[in-house]
Amino acid sequence: MLQGRRVLLGVSGGIASYKSCILARLLTQAGARVSVVLTRGAAQFVGPVTFEALTGQPVLTSLWQPGQVLNHVRLPQRVDLIIVAPATAHLMSRAAQGLADDLLTTMLVARTAPLLLAPAMNDDMYQHPAVQDAMDLLAGQGAVIVGPAVGDLAEGPSSRPGRMVEPETIFNHSVRLLRRGGALDGLHVVVTAGPTRESIDPVRFVSNRSSGRMGYALAQAAWWRGATVTLIAGPSSLPVPDGPTLERVETTADMAAAVATVRPEADVLIMAAAPSDYRPGDPATVKRPRADGDFVVTMEPTADILMGTAEARRPGSTTVGFALETGDAVEKGRAKLVRKDLDMIVINDALEAGAGFEVDTNRVTIIESDGRLTECPLQTKVEVAEAILDVVERHRVSQKAVSGAAN
Ligand SMILES: Cc1cc2nc3c(=O)[nH]c(=O)nc-3n(C[C@H](O)[C@H](O)[C@H](O)COP(=O)(O)O)c2cc1C
Repeated sequence: MLQGRRVLLGVSGGIASYKSCILARLLTQAGARVSVVLTRGAAQFVGPVTFEALTGQPVLTSLWQPGQVLNHVRLPQRVDLIIVAPATAHLMSRAAQGLADDLLTTMLVARTAPLLLAPAMNDDMYQHPAVQDAMDLLAGQGAVIVGPAVGDLAEGPSSRPGRMVEPETIFNHSVRLLRRGGALDGLHVVVTAGPTRESIDPVRFVSNRSSGRMGYALAQAAWWRGATVTLIAGPSSLPVPDGPTLERVETTADMAAAVATVRPEADVLIMAAAPSDYRPGDPATVKRPRADGDFVVTMEPTADILMGTAEARRPGSTTVGFALETGDAVEKGRAKLVRKDLDMIVINDALEAGAGFEVDTNRVTIIESDGRLTECPLQTKVEVAEAILDVVERHRVSQKAVSGAAN
């Protein structure tokens, strides 16, 4: 995901610096080459050996390291992104003023790369006007500031901002800064995810085995690529992705209404949800007791969300459908692509091992409206999401070229 990208990770002297080890690991695992710079304060909390072992790169701690004295200008001008996490009150105050009295602050003055700061400090420190002013100045200088979050601090519980956001959140924002600039950058992408629930009575419902993983992965990956993302999701226990706006729905009718609202502004609509095709025709208003004997529920079909929005599609927009089949998946998918007037359809076979619901992997085939077929190997759902978005980007670029030539 970050192969070939270079990142400078500055760590300043806050207790949250232990979490930067996880961040260093996430970035390295994603393929980035990570150079860590520790302030003197940071080195009191976490030693350079830990970061060197996690990143496989030498860790820098001093302006005056013999043999590396030009690093303070070379490195911040060679990397694709500079992250400072945690960013202490001291670090931000110095950086805002352009003070360059150690290796990290000198690099921040010399930098040409984008800068992401993750502030972390005691909640009273965070409220101090000097800290607020420094953050305003840094934001005005183009820094992207992520957090702080509200939550427990080392010194006890708190209900005010101060705590550093989680390493996964800093990672997601970093990926977005490193990867934007492609065909999805600045577009509005709408993704549906998960199952829907249809009530039988106030406590029972009909649903399906969809976990939401595929849709959540698509929403996160589209956001990484610079899109504004609306995620319309049925009930799911997955953690809410960073960046996308989550709209929670319960029934297929709720999902259809939510899609209809955003559809006219959407540049890309990806229907990865598994909405219930049927619902109880006449849900009971009270819970039916077992003593009443057999319980016959008559099911009626729900509305077809994709068909329902066909007319409201924004001109030039891209609509991606999903088809989960059990046998003859490609043929059934092709028919659905035509019937629902889609730009592409993602097909998988629920009977295949490792594909479909409740697993972390999937094996899909993508068919485009021009008949082009992309067969993906068995991959994680994050990798499948990336493959689908690669096809969406290519499809949009070639569509643009065709409409440009026609004009
Ligand atoms: C145990 C401990 C925890 C600290 N945690 C923080 C913190 O979370 N945020 C912060 O701004 N300063 C914190 N400080 C204070 C900084 O370490 C101090 O301001 C230091 O000068 C920061 O230097 P640096 O920004 O160059 O690393 C902490 C100090 C100690 C002793």
